[in-house]
Amino acid sequence: MSTLVRVFYVSAIVKPLSDVDVQAILGAAQMKNRRVDVTGMLAQSDSHFAQVLEGRHDAVKETLARVARDVRHSRVRVLLEEGITRRQFEKWAMAWAYQEEIAHEMRHLHECDLPDAARARALLAKLVPSDV
Ligand SMILES: Cc1cc2nc3c(=O)[nH]c(=O)nc-3n(C[C@H](O)[C@H](O)[C@H](O)COP(=O)(O)O)c2cc1C
Repeated sequence: MSTLVRVFYVSAIVKPLSDVDVQAILGAAQMKNRRVDVTGMLAQSDSHFAQVLEGRHDAVKETLARVARDVRHSRVRVLLEEGITRRQFEKWAMAWAYQEEIAHEMRHLHECDLPDAARARALLAKLVPSDV
């Protein structure tokens, strides 16, 4: 069985995104992720994205590299990168949530000098739906 990994990053939104823009990102993400069995979650505030990508090592790395080049956001900062035994978002090719209440935490983890792994995990925990 190939190794499963999880990557969690935060990034800055470059210019305001409309609902249509977000739907376009999600549509492409879900279609591509299904093909390579990547699952995860995209959370958004007015200024930042936070995204979890999980799946086979190669598929996650390839997806992250492509996403990091996307000009709709900038300064992708990986907070956690780890091997996992089970997925947290196994039902979602890419779930989405607008979460202004975590905006402050996303900003802090994006901009602080040295991101704190415990704080990154606490933010990640807030994104995991309660029924999994
Ligand atoms: C915040 C954000 C998250 C994204 N998440 C994914 C993703 O999970 N999977 C994916 O394939 N593309 C994702 N994309 C879109 C990719 O950056 C890219 O536009 C898309 O995969 C099409 O790539 P291509 O033009 O090289 O085919 C995301 C884009 C942004 C801005």
